[in-house]
Amino acid sequence: MKYKRMSRIIIPSNIILVVLLFSCSVAKKNTGPLSLKEAYKNSFMIGTAVNAVQIEEKEPNAAKIIPQEFNALTPENSMKCEIIHPYWDTYHFELADKLIAYGNKNNIPIMGHTLIWHSQLSQFVKNIKNADSLKLFFENHISTIAARYDGKIYSWDVVNEALNEDGSMRNSTFLEKLGPDYVIEAFKIAQKAAPKTELYYNDYNIEQPKKRAGAIALIKKIQAAGVRIDGVGIQGHWKVNNVPFKEIEESIIAFSKLGIKVMFTELDLTVLPNPWEVNTADVNMKAENNAYFNPYPKELPDSVQQMFSKDYTELFKLFQKHHKEVFRVTLWGLNDQQSWLNNWPIYGRTNYPLLFDRDFKPKNAYFKVIDIATQKK
Ligand code: G3I
Repeated sequence: MKYKRMSRIIIPSNIILVVLLFSCSVAKKNTGPLSLKEAYKNSFMIGTAVNAVQIEEKEPNAAKIIPQEFNALTPENSMKCEIIHPYWDTYHFELADKLIAYGNKNNIPIMGHTLIWHSQLSQFVKNIKNADSLKLFFENHISTIAARYDGKIYSWDVVNEALNEDGSMRNSTFLEKLGPDYVIEAFKIAQKAAPKTELYYNDYNIEQPKKRAGAIALIKKIQAAGVRIDGVGIQGHWKVNNVPFKEIEESIIAFSKLGIKVMFTELDLTVLPNPWEVNTADVNMKAENNAYFNPYPKELPDSVQQMFSKDYTELFKLFQKHHKEVFRVTLWGLNDQQSWLNNWPIYGRTNYPLLFDRDFKPKNAYFKVIDIATQKK
């Protein structure tokens, strides 16, 4: 009887469709992680660097993808001296404030970048001739900016790129006029102005043995002075087919022994030829463009795409292996169009260093990176 009645029920086809779609979406949710940040939520934070267009949500694709994929944001340029502090008595906080608001709205912590860097200094700082004036700038700059954002951002790269490749201190206006202890002094001022903010040292190539030894000595010096340092950022500007995996692993182990957080703060993989033998991220080094140095103006050949995916896969395998020591991995930009590597060290090239392509489509490497997260640690 019951069976008979049931057989007479007519279910409209649009209801069947809704039920089908619903069960598909439930099934999708249960079959695996949907984004980078979800995939790695039990391992480390996963971040991106954001530019002004993205902070102001002027690009709809970026506005959708950033909060969906990432749980840490670094301003690519908007907190650098030449933008935030253009004249002695003038600060331009507008864009940095917008970034804080953007982070609050999307519930994503901000990683401040950077208080003291020899590069991208405002003209007035470059013009300072005497030590007393530079010291005054140094104190005002760090304490004003660090205090303003204390409790509003998660961390600061207090000092960026203070070392040479051999591990010695890089020559800069700070080293020249304030002496080698300027790094300790910067952390001391930041600690006072921003007690609620984590304080990091950030540099490129510090996975390499000599530079790494210099960074370790510098961090130990800060610690020995009784000054707080919470972490170290290995930038991670590497080249496809030449990623220094062994040195990266050694560095994770060596830096974590200092009792601080280890982060990869500016990850990208160039696929283009390097005009020099050394691997560098020194923004002051430039070379001329020509066809040899810009071999893929239209698209990336499959063979290179495969090497690219393989290197990203191996890198994230390594990060995942050391998920207890690695606190954050930040990509230096969202998609290939945005990357600084299109214009450095040669202006106007077409590079492909990130996980999203020029149309904001996730690449094969993106899916491989997600797969790594689901494999057993
Ligand atoms: O803001 C001006 C704009 O007004 C002007 O019209 C335009 C013309 O070129 O230049 C704009 O400034 C550029 C700025 O990026 C913003 O787009 C600078 O020329 C350009 O040099 C600057 O490049 C940045 C570079 O640091 C120097 O600050 C890159 O975007 C940024 O990705 C790069 O990031 C650095 C990290 O901070 C530290 N580690 C290395 C990393 C890569 O170089």
